[in-house]
Amino acid sequence: MDFIDEIKRRRTFGIVSHPDAGKTTLTEKLLLFGGAIQEAGAVKSNKIKKTATSDWMEIERQRGISVATSVMAFEYREHQINILDTPGHQDFAEDTFRTLTAVDSVIIVIDAAKGVEPQTKKLMQVCRMRKTPVIVFVNKMDRPAQDPFDLMDEVEKQLEIKVRPLSWPINNGQFFKGVYNIYNNNLVLFRANEKLTENNSVLFSDINDPELEEFIGDDALHLRSDLDLIEGVYPSFDLHSYLDAKVAPVFFGSALNNFGVKELLDCFVDIAPFPRPIETLERTVQPDEEKFSGFVFKIHANMDPNHRDRIAFVKITSGKFERNKNYLHVRHDKWMKFSSPTAFMASKKSIIDEAYPGDIVGLHDTGNFKIGDSLTEGDKLHFKGLPSFSPELFQYIENADPMKSKQLAKGIEQLMDEGVAQLFTGRASNRKIIGTVGALQFEVIQYRLLHEYSASCRYEGIRLYKTVWITSNDKKKLEEFIERKYQQMAFDKEGRNVFLADTPYALQMAQEKFPEIQFHFTSEF
Ligand code: G4P
Repeated sequence: MDFIDEIKRRRTFGIVSHPDAGKTTLTEKLLLFGGAIQEAGAVKSNKIKKTATSDWMEIERQRGISVATSVMAFEYREHQINILDTPGHQDFAEDTFRTLTAVDSVIIVIDAAKGVEPQTKKLMQVCRMRKTPVIVFVNKMDRPAQDPFDLMDEVEKQLEIKVRPLSWPINNGQFFKGVYNIYNNNLVLFRANEKLTENNSVLFSDINDPELEEFIGDDALHLRSDLDLIEGVYPSFDLHSYLDAKVAPVFFGSALNNFGVKELLDCFVDIAPFPRPIETLERTVQPDEEKFSGFVFKIHANMDPNHRDRIAFVKITSGKFERNKNYLHVRHDKWMKFSSPTAFMASKKSIIDEAYPGDIVGLHDTGNFKIGDSLTEGDKLHFKGLPSFSPELFQYIENADPMKSKQLAKGIEQLMDEGVAQLFTGRASNRKIIGTVGALQFEVIQYRLLHEYSASCRYEGIRLYKTVWITSNDKKKLEEFIERKYQQMAFDKEGRNVFLADTPYALQMAQEKFPEIQFHFTSEF
């Protein structure tokens, strides 16, 4: 297969959802289709127990295992599918956002009874910012569900994207009969716990065919009028609108029953994008360029405290990656080669000789990499679109053992490089503030500092709503702002100016009073 075909057959995506909507179950069914796992439960057992309240020991235990589920690759219909795991429970962290910077598209799972939930909204913001194409899967149709038209309205409103149903449910809960697959014009009848090989679809090119009643009884009437309404209300499916992230195709089903999943996967393989051009500060990188390039989007630390080595996950953006070839670590201006790059075929890790755009390779790292680093064949490229997001939870971090201040500083620095959390330093106080998006990260940091760096820290509460990066074209105004707000100013890890807004009101006032200042909610502007 030639290089271009290798690129075109790749589909690298993430599945996002609010906890419990069915992301793990859907992932598992997709892996079953790809033959990547043989039995249900294989992914589930890797998941952090939801019942564990604030159980960070569990996170530690899972950290080792979750390397394997970070990327789940499999082949389906001659396509190479790479699913990137987006942790979503107690382990919800900046990591989850970052992973979305490495996907080419996203599948959003929504619980048919609960509709759009908060974490989904947050993750969708990242997709919107990056113009990532999304497909929506409405799950749990075997349970009592909301009216599908209401759900569509909710998705449009809450996720701020137009929708286009490509399948439509026939009733729900105990009366659930199946879905009409609009994409393929066939009726797919519901049977619980569908076997993969069973064919339960009936071709219905004409929905007015009276035979429809034989299959779904009185629901045929509803289905016909629903489909009429769909054609009237929603514009017909347009691939470009989907690829431009303007419209989200929608599928319905029940992941647990493996129902509607094949329809989703078949359509996904047809329409989801292969790796696309990507922006760097210097230029646009085309995936089919001959020379290799890639960026680090995730760093995974070893669990063993005696070995501080890590795995850096690199998304390949152009060219072919080859084992033992010299590549430039752009930030360090240093050539490096990798003798044991790994690929992730479902739960197995294996050393690979080559990889293509869209693929993720895991590189053994002794502390050279940080998130956002680029690796090339000599081009000095800096990838855009890997920002830090304003965290939501904050605490002062203090040294609890004066004899170990060096260890603490090193530990904090390395953990921040990994993207576990963000560090800000108060301008006036010089105090260090840790910001995270998930509460558990504070405990994880404390635990890891102690076990990996022999440093102890303690936290102290701080009243803070958001950290906002500030810039201005007017240097004088910027200085004036900094002077006026000196007590609330801090530096981020790269030394950029950050405003510490203690309440939404304070932020709003600052925005109103200082129109010459730009307030940024991500670190990339
Ligand atoms: P998540 O990764 O998004 O958090 O969700 P997960 O797949 O773990 O699913 C959450 C719960 O919802 C699980 O039940 C799962 O079995 C159930 N579920 C997923 N898809 C469907 C579906 O289509 N229909 C129905 N009725 N249930 C579904 P649990 O009791 O929390 O876990 P388990 O004991 O079944 O493992």
